[in-house]
Amino acid sequence: MAMAAAALFLLPLLSCFIGTIQSSLLPQHTDKITHLPGQPLVQFQQFSGYVNVDQNNQKALFYYFVEAEIDPTSKPLVLWLNGGPGCSSIGVGAFSENGPFRPNGQILLRNEFSWNKEANMLYLDTPVGVGFSYSTGKSSYQTVNDEITAKDNLVFLQRWFLRFPQYRNSSLFITGESYAGHYVPQLAKLIIQLNKKERSINLKGVALGNPLLEFATDYNSRAEYFWSHGLISDSTYNLFTFGCNYSRYVSEYYRDSVSSICSRAMSQVNKESSRFVDKYDVTLDVCIPSVLSQSKIIAPQQNSERIDVCVEDEIVNYLNRRDVQKALHAKLVGVRRWDVCSNILDYDMLDLEIPTISIIGSLIKEQIPVLIYSGDQDSVIPLTGSRTLVHRLAKEVGLNTTVPYRVWFEGQQVGGWTQVYGNILSFATIRGASHEAPFSQPQRSFVLFKSFLDARPLPLEF
Ligand SMILES: *[C@@H]1O[C@H](CO)[C@@H](O)[C@H](O)[C@H]1NC(C)=O
Ligand SMILES: *[C@@H]1O[C@H](CO)[C@@H](O)[C@H](O)[C@H]1NC(C)=O
Ligand SMILES: *[C@@H]1O[C@H](CO)[C@@H](O)[C@H](O)[C@H]1NC(C)=O
Repeated sequence: MAMAAAALFLLPLLSCFIGTIQSSLLPQHTDKITHLPGQPLVQFQQFSGYVNVDQNNQKALFYYFVEAEIDPTSKPLVLWLNGGPGCSSIGVGAFSENGPFRPNGQILLRNEFSWNKEANMLYLDTPVGVGFSYSTGKSSYQTVNDEITAKDNLVFLQRWFLRFPQYRNSSLFITGESYAGHYVPQLAKLIIQLNKKERSINLKGVALGNPLLEFATDYNSRAEYFWSHGLISDSTYNLFTFGCNYSRYVSEYYRDSVSSICSRAMSQVNKESSRFVDKYDVTLDVCIPSVLSQSKIIAPQQNSERIDVCVEDEIVNYLNRRDVQKALHAKLVGVRRWDVCSNILDYDMLDLEIPTISIIGSLIKEQIPVLIYSGDQDSVIPLTGSRTLVHRLAKEVGLNTTVPYRVWFEGQQVGGWTQVYGNILSFATIRGASHEAPFSQPQRSFVLFKSFLDARPLPLEF
């Protein structure tokens, strides 16, 4: 149905252009970015714009697409999604993690380790109400959950391929971070279902950074992480583990029913761990730019008092410039300014508790390679929870270890640790990296990304 609607939508356009094969007349042409304000000269092309994902054309998802630096049509296509739920993949992913530019005052600086050195990068603001994505039917913001998000993301992809037919057959990798531990497997599952009916999307792999995969395991690894990094005392560790664990607290929090023991445990944890420590990277001095706020939503207590010691928020300033919005073909609909994480989206937070690790298992059974990686300084979704989940999954689906737990190298230094199961399911840490690994360790993250695309084990020596 979605495809039919999209095809109808394109029909008048195509008939005008019959007989012309000039690229300037492809439907994608109107989305081409001529120049972003403050941007250095580059050789690759950029596009951005809206794709409608419903039949009434009320819901429009915003994307930013950066072609690979060299020979784009021979390179894979990589979809990147940030989490929250409710944070912008353009603001966080593209402009502070793995995109080609980072705003700096009035200009854009090149990111030397941009992922478009190896792939065509597609960043999507999803669901509606996030970043520049919008719905003109206001009620759309009130009923958003994992199921709706996954469906909208699939329709987006199908219609995006109609606009960019030259990438139709490219190898597609779906990647993301944090709450994208829900979005990515759920979208991949819909793609596999679709491909069983009509082979249409060439899904080749999935990679997830510090992802939420299983609520209790991920959230309850926090206590030990805090304790082993000296953020809480022995007695608070015990209270936070045996009195009220974190999954129980979050579960009560989103049901508006925080018990007195949980309230006591959390206030003790917060007091000792201090709001002057960055929970996304426990070794960092506190400076929480709003680009790091996607994890504030999945970690509710942390956002009770927002510290804003960073005077400048480069991304917010840049993306709120009128000339930048014009260059991006972006508009503000229903909001007065662009925000890193949405203030209007009312996501169903109980969906946090839906396990997606089992979907990862089904992807593996379909022979889709999966990489789970962890910035090892993150306490929001700590490496220990992810490592346990991957190990447990490998056992469940009967995969033996093919690369035993070992270090990997970037340059002459250890980039992190890795273990691979059945040559299809990989776990890796990125040493010294935060929740937003490509932001804090761009070079190591790039090495990891390249190995993942090439389906090669991480470098064993330098
Ligand atoms: C994609 O593959 C199909 C089937 O092999 C082929 O008909 C089509 O021309 C290809 N499209 C592009 C853009 O390469
Ligand atoms: C966390 O607390 C819940 C509710 O008390 C309990 O069912 C669960 O087993 C606990 N999880 C862990 C890992 O201790
Ligand atoms: C995994 O290892 C066990 C024990 O060595 C072996 O029996 C089994 O066949 C292996 N499984 C696979 C999928 O290779």
